[in-house]
Amino acid sequence: MITKNISFEVQEYNDIEELNIEDRKLMDLAVLATKQAYAPYSEFKVGAALLLDNGEIIVGANQENAAYPSGMCAERVAIWTAGVKYPEAKITKLCISASSLKNPVDQPLAPCGACRQTLSEYEIKQNKNMEILLMGETGKVLKTNSLLNLLPLAFDKEFL
Ligand code: THU
Repeated sequence: MITKNISFEVQEYNDIEELNIEDRKLMDLAVLATKQAYAPYSEFKVGAALLLDNGEIIVGANQENAAYPSGMCAERVAIWTAGVKYPEAKITKLCISASSLKNPVDQPLAPCGACRQTLSEYEIKQNKNMEILLMGETGKVLKTNSLLNLLPLAFDKEFL
């Protein structure tokens, strides 16, 4: 038996002001997209903004449903929209932000497991890393250079 250590690098910024211009603009759009959330049940609003290698930007926001499991996360709304509108384009980066009517979200949002799995499909398919930036409504921003950093030992098509 050997013990292996799986680790990844993440850049931590004190706040959105510290980001470079491109990242800042995309994160601003993710923050704006939180306003498009339909989240009457959780009152937790998530926004996602994707930059594609053709220069296009796609946004998504969570959409809830009275039958709770029928709702959908912001990240999957965004990436599936990108898949439909620009199936040939590669995703360069993804910014995610969140706010809540109940508590201030002052730490970076951690995307849910289902979104990590869904996003991993696209990173693997495009054979190119996508940068991921995570933020609450205020506070620190985390940036990492690959979605798969957030999903070690990912299940992928090689298992099938
Ligand atoms: N949510 C997202 O949109 N993305 C995530 O990564 C985590 C959770 C949404 C789903 C639901 O509408 C609300 O946040 C509370 O879970």
